[in-house]
Amino acid sequence: MQFKDLSVKYGTPLFVYDTDSIKLRIKYLANILENMDICYAIKANSFVIKEIKDDIKRVEVCSYGEYEICKKMGVDNQKIVLSGVYKNEEEFEQIFKGEELVLRFTIESLEQFKLLLRLALKYKKRIDVLIRLTSGNQFGVREEDIDDIIANKNDLINIKGIEFFSGTQKHSLKRITKECEYLREVIDRINNKYNINLEEIEYGPGFPVYYFQGDEFLEEEFLKEFKEIINTYFKEKVILEIGRSIVASSGYYLTKVVDIKENQNGKFVILDGGINHLVYYGQTMAMKIPYYEIINKDINKKEEVVSLFGSLCTINDILVKQLEVPKLEIGDVFVFKNVGAYSITEGISLFLSRKMPKVVLLCNRADKIVRDEIDTAMINCPKEEY
Ligand SMILES: Cc1ncc(COP(=O)(O)O)c(C=O)c1O
Repeated sequence: MQFKDLSVKYGTPLFVYDTDSIKLRIKYLANILENMDICYAIKANSFVIKEIKDDIKRVEVCSYGEYEICKKMGVDNQKIVLSGVYKNEEEFEQIFKGEELVLRFTIESLEQFKLLLRLALKYKKRIDVLIRLTSGNQFGVREEDIDDIIANKNDLINIKGIEFFSGTQKHSLKRITKECEYLREVIDRINNKYNINLEEIEYGPGFPVYYFQGDEFLEEEFLKEFKEIINTYFKEKVILEIGRSIVASSGYYLTKVVDIKENQNGKFVILDGGINHLVYYGQTMAMKIPYYEIINKDINKKEEVVSLFGSLCTINDILVKQLEVPKLEIGDVFVFKNVGAYSITEGISLFLSRKMPKVVLLCNRADKIVRDEIDTAMINCPKEEY
């Protein structure tokens, strides 16, 4: 179905995720990174999980809310890695009470270690864990804390390996090499000291997505070099925790021109969407031009210069500054591309009580609505009687 038909059928603003192309993307990554498994970080986009759950080996889940989404969408617990900087005891107890435990739990602090130990003892369940090594921020534990965990664990805690994630949009293979070198040292030291065999490394490489026109990225070369680095440093099973790079390119955001005006500073085009829904990582002051099209218009025709604004009450709600476009009219629909990752969750969607957009999936070329518009006024409104 064409964007034009989708915009007529569902209205705007609208998110469209093409799950057929996400499946192809996973195949592409899996082919190049052949000896590694792919773990999908569901935080990047939870709407597509039901369609892609059979195409990935694991799903990384960082909150009970994400766990509930997985359960509703039929993700097997044997695929789930339960991570997160805060693990709520009551919520985790629910998981331990259930018949089927999750594939892996991560340990992000000594408190989390004690919590998992307590629950494992209470429910007499043996659990597989990955210890998250910190990169210096609030996530994970120090190297010496790993020693502490090993010294104080019992047979119910089975340490399978290490988890490491140091950030997103990592372009530098040098940095990745350094991280792998460091992980190698830590794993060797632990294996030798305790005579154990850490079998797995769940590594978040933070693969980059190039969002803006003019940015150049030779992805295939990058991925091949990445594979070399991994193969140089690890004989263990490497599982790649990836979000952005899997889903970004398969998402579209449709938003309509609702007003056009001019003043001493130029031409202002107001859209019915905005930064409450749309986030481009690395966009600075709206100076960069993302990939986009305008339904029924040739964007190569440069007939006027405009700035594109959303409909929030803040001067920051600007999507693109000084864009050369064909002559615009009210009702024209912009299709912003590469918005499949994080946009829907990172936008400040409650600001100004505007509605959250519908979400449509393209599966086997057919369109399916998977979320209706959400009225945020009710979320921002106090109880009528209090
Ligand atoms: C622990 C962890 N793993 C994986 C990811 C996914 O990162 P990306 O979307 O850059 O692939 C994140 C993102 O925040 C994360 O926090």
